[in-house]
Amino acid sequence: MEVVILPDAEAVGKEAARKIAVLIRRKPNCVLGLATGSTPIPCYRELIRMHKEEGLDFSKVTTFNLDEYYPIDPRHHQSYRYFMDENLFNHINIDKARTFVPYGLAPDPYEHCIWYEEQIKKAGGIDLQILGIGHNGHIAFNEPGSSLASRTRVKTLTRETIEANARFFERPEDVPRYAITMGIGTILEAREILLLATSEGKADAVAKAIEGPVTSMCPASALQLHPHVTFILDEAAASKLERKDYYKYVHEMSESLKRQIREKLANQI
Ligand code: PGA
Repeated sequence: MEVVILPDAEAVGKEAARKIAVLIRRKPNCVLGLATGSTPIPCYRELIRMHKEEGLDFSKVTTFNLDEYYPIDPRHHQSYRYFMDENLFNHINIDKARTFVPYGLAPDPYEHCIWYEEQIKKAGGIDLQILGIGHNGHIAFNEPGSSLASRTRVKTLTRETIEANARFFERPEDVPRYAITMGIGTILEAREILLLATSEGKADAVAKAIEGPVTSMCPASALQLHPHVTFILDEAAASKLERKDYYKYVHEMSESLKRQIREKLANQI
């Protein structure tokens, strides 16, 4: 597990976008796992800039989003499909047919979950998964208590989540009561995972995820079981990590080693 600590949310977004761009250039038909929420917005903004100014080409990229409300019309401004279109897809040259978000109006959401998992498999699995983290350690809609082996499924939203979301909907009865979400087991199958966290409010959850025990009570702690995870944090989100200085030292040392190797290889040419 690698922990990268950067000054602010903007730098976190840029670093995540840089890693995504490296993958797209190396493997133009790669499969990305994407997240909604406020945290990845600077990353998406940077990807749009890279597309417009540097020609970063998304034409062969496939994406799978983590989750979606249920039921919700994809055209509703609070749907995660709408969020992705507005914040990323409408501004890059991606083929919309290759952008998967669980369908909020699926006639049978249970069948849809099975179909969604099949599409991920058909695409060859997820190369790089972007994640945010909730204040309670959730990843996607996997709230505390979710099985660490869970698959894509229908979840009933907690009363707290429904109340917190009510402000985004016209009437309280419009707030969706369910969500379709990738499971923790699904997420752990991605080849590489980047968890982004910014702001003081995330510091407790981040410390539990990285330094606490692996427990379903902090779903993000399951990432400790994955062989290739990077936590990209701003200083505020990293502020409660006991071994913060050590992570910074390790990061500096590994960057320095990579630089030395690059220079050595360049000199050989
Ligand atoms: P946020 O949400 O990026 O809006 O903080 C993250 C999450 O709840 O997973």
